[in-house]
Amino acid sequence: MVNPRLLRIDDNPWARLRALLDGAPPRTNLPHVLMSLGEPQHDPPPIMARLIAESAKLWNRYPPMQGTPAYRTACAEWLTRRYRLPAGLVTGERNVLSLNGTKEGLFLAAAMAVPQEKRGKEPAVLMPNPYYLVYNGAAQMAGAEPVFLDATARTGFLPDLDAIPDAVLARTALFYLCSPANPQGAIASLDYLKQAIRLARAHDFVLALDECYCEVYDKEAPPGALEACAALGGDLTNVLVFHSLSKRSSAAGLRCGFVAGDAKLIELLNTLRSYGGAQVPLPIQEAATALWRDEAHVDENRALYRRKFDVAERVLKGRFGFYRPPGGFLLWLDVGDGEEAARTLWREAAVRTLPGAYIARTNARGENPGQRYIRIALVHDDATIEAGLTRLAQVLA
Ligand SMILES: Cc1ncc(COP(=O)(O)O)c(C=O)c1O
Repeated sequence: MVNPRLLRIDDNPWARLRALLDGAPPRTNLPHVLMSLGEPQHDPPPIMARLIAESAKLWNRYPPMQGTPAYRTACAEWLTRRYRLPAGLVTGERNVLSLNGTKEGLFLAAAMAVPQEKRGKEPAVLMPNPYYLVYNGAAQMAGAEPVFLDATARTGFLPDLDAIPDAVLARTALFYLCSPANPQGAIASLDYLKQAIRLARAHDFVLALDECYCEVYDKEAPPGALEACAALGGDLTNVLVFHSLSKRSSAAGLRCGFVAGDAKLIELLNTLRSYGGAQVPLPIQEAATALWRDEAHVDENRALYRRKFDVAERVLKGRFGFYRPPGGFLLWLDVGDGEEAARTLWREAAVRTLPGAYIARTNARGENPGQRYIRIALVHDDATIEAGLTRLAQVLA
């Protein structure tokens, strides 16, 4: 009666986490510290609420599906500044579409990119392992085989592009990559991105770069896929990048982002969105236009995250395989058995974390690359982080 593809998707980590922890509540009266969910906790810049209020007269209007010219131009100009792109390489009109956050666009990318067959074979959608659950859900609903590429300490926490078999590349319709990576914080170098783009063109698949963490970094600003396109001569063919204000402006509730890249793919996504997407409301686009034009609040935001990592480094350095991730706001700690550690931490210390195995797949060798890990979101104030991590270090010692 219903679509069997939907019934096969059973990898929601939050459902598994509730099943693991909710039957065994904390045995301590300590305040709960919820470090499982990567939800930004900083206040969004005040200009956001002010501009939404000032644009209240626009709530009655249907917004344009592709975004307002002002919004798309602000996104294109931000990309051009942020990635030092040649003037005119990306324009709002040709190369940008508004999105309700990256999640929606990442999902629709599979519906757009996956054919029924690729070179007579079942189409594949490649993704890193561990992965963001939308990549898998999108691949499955589009009728493709999700192919999980291990991203471990050995491979620099990114998929090893040289290790993908030619037979898989030949039937690949779409490749999701995430940089900075959730959960490991690894940043793809410009050379890595160029290699991924060359593969996409050689095998004619869509490369979807999830860059939603790109403004939260420690030292160097992460390079982007459009920057790699520029370095390869300025052609955007086969490449899409996904951006959002959720992390950049601590505005996850605004539900506002964009996709940019290959003009032909942008046009197809716009057609698809006109059936199955939702426009971004005009007052939100007014506020978001101003946010993409402002860097001061982003610098402040980044400085606050650096302080959180200073706290984490002080408490955890030398233990649990701690490393200071170059990007993002997550810690990926090697605790031996992630599920056991998450259960113990909740029970004994009221600290909620996510077992790495819940966001990764067991590979052909029977290994789950997340098995030994827990994921911790460093999103709270410094004192809460210090309390949570100190309890973690004591309980798991
Ligand atoms: C890797 C990754 N991609 C995309 C998203 C979706 O973010 P949004 O839709 O808020 O832009 C998230 C959310 O946490 C994420 O972790």
